This record gives sequence, structure tokens and C-alpha cells, in this order.
Amino acid sequence: MKYDVVVIGSGPGGYVAAIRCAQLGMKTAIVERYNTLGGTCLNVGCIPSKALLDSSEHYHNANKTFADHGVRIESLKADLNQMVERKNGVVKQTCDGVQYLMKKNGIEVYHGHGSFVEANKLHVKGDEKTTEVEFEKAIIATGSKPITPAAFNYDKKRVITSTEALNITEIPKRMVIIGAGVIGLELGSVFARIGTEVEVIEFQDKVLGTMDKDTSKELRRSMKKIGVKFHLGHAVTEVKSNDKGVDVSFKKRDSEDILNTKADYCLIAIGRRPYTDNLGLDKVGITLDDRGRIPVNEHLQTAAAHIYAIGDVIQGAMLAHKAEEEGIFVAEYMNGEKPHINYNLIPGVVYTWPEVSAVGKTEKQLKEEGIPYKVGKFPMKALGRSRASMDTEGLIKVISHKETDEILGVHMIGARAADMIMEAVALMEFRASAEDMARISHPHPTYTEAIKEAALGATGNRYLHI
Ligand code: FAD
Ligand code: NAI
Repeated sequence: MKYDVVVIGSGPGGYVAAIRCAQLGMKTAIVERYNTLGGTCLNVGCIPSKALLDSSEHYHNANKTFADHGVRIESLKADLNQMVERKNGVVKQTCDGVQYLMKKNGIEVYHGHGSFVEANKLHVKGDEKTTEVEFEKAIIATGSKPITPAAFNYDKKRVITSTEALNITEIPKRMVIIGAGVIGLELGSVFARIGTEVEVIEFQDKVLGTMDKDTSKELRRSMKKIGVKFHLGHAVTEVKSNDKGVDVSFKKRDSEDILNTKADYCLIAIGRRPYTDNLGLDKVGITLDDRGRIPVNEHLQTAAAHIYAIGDVIQGAMLAHKAEEEGIFVAEYMNGEKPHINYNLIPGVVYTWPEVSAVGKTEKQLKEEGIPYKVGKFPMKALGRSRASMDTEGLIKVISHKETDEILGVHMIGARAADMIMEAVALMEFRASAEDMARISHPHPTYTEAIKEAALGATGNRYLHI
């Protein structure tokens, strides 16, 4: 069978690219090595982790704050098995939705591992047979896998990654997490909320290394309150496991003294690597860069100009919405259009509670780039809305250019920061100033009033409520 476009990988990059190609009239096929569509994000990433984050947060609130709200529960129990079952239902519904979308858009689905064999041909190796598929153009959207160094002895039973952690059905007594990045803190929250003693070992001196220093500090404080213990500036040297649990050896970054800790599980969350195993890249003249990524030009074309690559397998943030934008970009570029992606305005969100979100530059980046800036900061606790809901933790920070007042970065930690960041993204897309942001009417009482106040601060005006 010959197609105008074949997409390899059905994650948010791949399935969105396939839909857009089909919408634009291209005869499209998609290849997926697993039985379900949706990739990391839908099966073992964004969706299942958010399902467990929501369930565990409900339990946490019932346990810790309901009584203050005047809601008394006599006997309360966290049922992790049910949480995981509900999560599986959410995942199934979401993946089935992608299957439906493929059918609706007339996209042929091939299940099996795709490998290039010639410039315009690939083989799809399924459980029972290998199918040959020909294409004019191809999009590589093969995503990423967790990094699991040999010294950590990843065994999928006691030494695990996020993939296995999402399916633990009995509440562990203790869990060691390596890495205080997004996965470590999101999944650390899930387990800490339902009663697991969580210990996080992180190489850097802060959690969420690439994010704003104030939001990072606030989040660490909030996570300590739910019982998470941090060893910052420490590196794990070895992990050993047996049937019952794990032994984790670690040390202070500049010391030789080895420390030890034991737990039921050790979760490795130290980043992900682009996944290109057995893809036959040598058959089409593509070589990887020094970090295992597929190099692309500004049109997301690989060294073979008729083959494009998008999402986690190329440079840039490993985020579902970044992969989606790239999927749409490639389809429209192939169609002769002139699409554009503003990489600076791809927001980042961490779904802990309080939530963390950010768009644009951090103060650190602006200093490094020599760009003069002003800052406005507003604490959530000063809002009536926060007091009403008891969500008083966090702050919003608006950074604008010192001379032009253009908004350069917005950083948030607080209730519903995940959704609130869109105000900043939209305004920054239109190159608004902090004064524009401050003059927009924000409904009262909402958490968004903190955005207005922080913007007021950045303009040099006086805050209204502190
Ligand atoms: P993927 O989603 O990884 O999909 C790639 C697909 O390609 C896979 O299904 C794979 O099986 C298939 N494949 C690979 N090689 C072949 C081959 N040779 N033949 C056939 N098929 C192949 N991002 C967010 O934006 N928000 C979140 O809240 C979020 N939460 C996350 C939580 C966790 C626990 C994890 C692990 C990740 C999370 N991410 C989140 C990141 C997000 O999942 C990824 O950025 C996103 O899935 C990347 O999309 P992609 O299409 O590039 O690749
Ligand atoms: P990460 O890159 O966010 O964090 C990894 C952390 O591990 C870093 O802080 C690093 O300093 C630390 N580390 C590395 N080696 C170490 C060692 N030997 N000992 C101790 N610490 C060590 O990676 P993570 O959390 O695995 O997530 C992978 C990707 O998935 C991220 O790039 C993220 O974009 C994506 N993701 C996004 C989510 C979201 O958008 N909400 C949720 C979960 C994942």
C-alpha cells in the first residue's frame, strides 16, 4: 500500500499530525508498536498521572481540610486499587477516542514496530506478520523512554519508572524517588498524599531545576508539609533490590561519604531519552545528535528532506502540547502553508498541589541574556478567594522589560495555576505590556486577581491589596 504520508508513533505528536494531514486531503497511515493508540501521554504519562493526582488530592483534602470546612467523615480510607482502576478506565476511554478519530478521518492504522528499509518504504513488524508500507513523506513521532542507568538496576518490580509506578495497587510504606523533576514531584505527591513516606534524592540544589527560583522554593515548602523529605545536592550512586524492597546508596555531591536508605520501591525519575530503537534510520541517511535526538531544520525536516520528525524525539521541551504543535506545523508545511511555532511561549505546568506553571523567561535566563527587567510578585494568601477555599499557598510573578514593559515571563504557583497560565500565554502572544495585563478587568473573587496585582507591581504601580 502507498500513502502520501506515514506517521510513525501515535502519541500526541503523531496522532495530531495524522489528523491534520488527513484533514488537508493527504492519504495518511499511522504506525504504532503497541496495541493501543495515544503514546506515552495517553497510556503511561499525562492522562494516567493526572487521574491519580486528582484521586489522591481528593483523599488528601478529605483527610486534612474537610473538617475545617465543616464536612465530617467518620471513617476514611485510601483505596489505591480503586484509584488505579478508575485511572485505567480514564486511559481506556481516552485511547479509544483516538482510535475513533483515526477512523473518522480515514487514517489507516498499522499495529507493529515500524523500521525504514528504503527511502520511501518501511516495514511494520507485527506479532504475526510483517507488512510493507510505501510513502511519499513520513513523520517520525516515536517519542521517548525513561533514562535508567545500569547502576540503578531497573527491574520493573522494586526499582521502577513512572510506567510501573502508575500501576502500584497497594499503598507502599516507603518510596525513594531519584530526581526532583516533574515526574518525581507529581508522583511523589500522589504517594505522599495517601500515606507513603516519600524521600526524594536530587542532584541539584533546587527542585524543578529549570523553573523559577521562587516557585521552586514555594513548591518544596508545600511538599514538605505533606511529608516529603528532600536530599538536595545529593546523587544516587547505586540501587539494589530484592523481593521485598530496595537499598539505595547516595552521597552529597562533593563528598565521598556514602549514605544509605531503604524502601519498598525506588522510582527512577531522572529524565527521558529520545526513542529511535530499530527504526532503520541508517537506511534513510539520518544520524542522531550527541543526545540521541533526531536533528531537524527549521521546517522540522530531517537529513532526508521528505522525512520529518516531531515531539520528544527531537530537541526542545518534552511536552505533549509541544509535540502537538509540531504535528500541525509539519502537516501544514507539507501542504504548502507557512505555519509558525513560538517556542518561547510553550507553557510548562506541574500538576502538584499547589500547581506550578510558567511561560516565557525566568529571571536567571534574562540575567544571562543581559535583558533589563522589572518584577511584580503577589502572594495568593492576600486574596479573598484563596481564604474562602483555604488555598492560600503560592504566588504569582510577572516579569516585564525594564524599558518597554513588554511581559517577558510569568511564573505561578497556586490553586489552578495550570489553567490560569493561559491568560499570560495569550497576552504574551500579542506582545502585551504588564500595564495592559494590569488594566484588564479580572473577576472578583478569583485567583486571577493575583495576576492583575503582580502585573501592577511590575509596572511600578502600588499593589491594591497588600
Ligand atoms: P510519545 O507520546 O512517546 O509517543 C510515541 C509513540 O511512538 C509511542 O506510542 C511508541 O510506542 C510509538 N513508537 C515508537 N517507536 C515506534 C516504531 N518504531 N514503530 C511504531 N511505533 C513506535 N507532557 C505534558 O505536556 N503534560 C503532562 O502532564 C505530562 N505528564 C507526563 C507524565 C508522565 C508520567 C510522563 C512519562 C510524561 C508526561 N508528559 C507530559 C510528557 C508527554 O507524555 C510527552 O511529551 C509526549 O507524550 C510526547 O509525545 P510524542 O508524540 O512525541 O511521543
Ligand atoms: P526532569 O528532567 O524533569 O527531572 C529529572 C531530575 O533528576 C533533574 O532535576 C535532575 O537534576 C535529576 N537527576 C538526574 N540524575 C540524577 C541522579 N543521578 N541523582 C539524583 N538526581 C538526578 O525529568 P523527569 O521528571 O523524569 O521527566 C521527564 C520528562 O517528562 C520531562 O522533560 C517533562 O517535560 C516530562 N513530563 C512533563 C510533565 C508535565 O508537563 N506536567 C509531567 C511529567 C513528565
